[in-house]
Amino acid sequence: RHVAEAGNGRPGSTACMECHRLDGGGMPSIGAPRIAGQPEQYIAREIREVKAGKRYGPVMAGVVQNLSPRDIRAVALYYSHAKSPKLPDVGPPDPVLVAEGEHIATRGLWKKNIPACVQCHGPNGYGVPPLFPFIAGQNRTYLLRQLMAYAFLKRQDDPQGLMRGIARRLTMTQRKAVAEYFSSL
Ligand code: HEM
Ligand code: HEM
Repeated sequence: RHVAEAGNGRPGSTACMECHRLDGGGMPSIGAPRIAGQPEQYIAREIREVKAGKRYGPVMAGVVQNLSPRDIRAVALYYSHAKSPKLPDVGPPDPVLVAEGEHIATRGLWKKNIPACVQCHGPNGYGVPPLFPFIAGQNRTYLLRQLMAYAFLKRQDDPQGLMRGIARRLTMTQRKAVAEYFSSL
């Protein structure tokens, strides 16, 4: 909690709550993800991947550089137990996109070799720890940015390139649709 609230005290350290809030709800307006309740191992792994330069996101890269392994374990534990309400996205969901997204999320697009998202991310996208993060209730700006990042190799941390293949095979409209659907839950 200390790192989340005040940083680790070393020069240049920033408090996580400036973007993820102290309750881990994130900030939809800047696309900062909700991290409250993500699996502990997932949070820790993502911070290490950001440090290793495997994830796009200049903002986070600067912030986590001076976290020690101990700091990383501590914030991962803190945020995995944090609870936050879903914060409203910027603007209402588009019902047409939500419907298309729901179809892909629950049935997949087998003609394009895309399994239903819920097969890995769990019923309704609530996540399956330790490997699969929740994507339900995440802000749409962040979700869409991740799908673009996987598709165009800016995010290279996914095991066996699972997400890369899926994100690449989706069209731009389909990426928007699944982001719209999961953010509406
Ligand atoms: C992404 C943790 C500080 C902005 C993330 C993710 C984690 C995380 C785990 C990935 C989430 C996921 O994959 O679902 C932390 C921790 C921090 C911290 C522990 C403090 C030590 C900050 C600060 C900012 C920020 C201060 C803003 C100045 C962002 C943004 C993303 C992100 C914009 C999304 C990056 C992208 O699009 O790939 N953060 N964060 N974070 N964080 Fe932080
Ligand atoms: C991560 C979306 C299908 C496995 C993610 C993330 C998003 C996403 C947005 C990043 C979450 C975050 O940063 O917090 C989707 C959508 C899908 C889908 C929209 C359907 C079209 C699948 C399937 C699998 C899978 C079928 C398993 C075969 C994973 C894994 C991660 C992940 C392992 C974490 C990867 C990492 O560490 O970078 N997914 N997903 N996803 N997804 Fe999916």
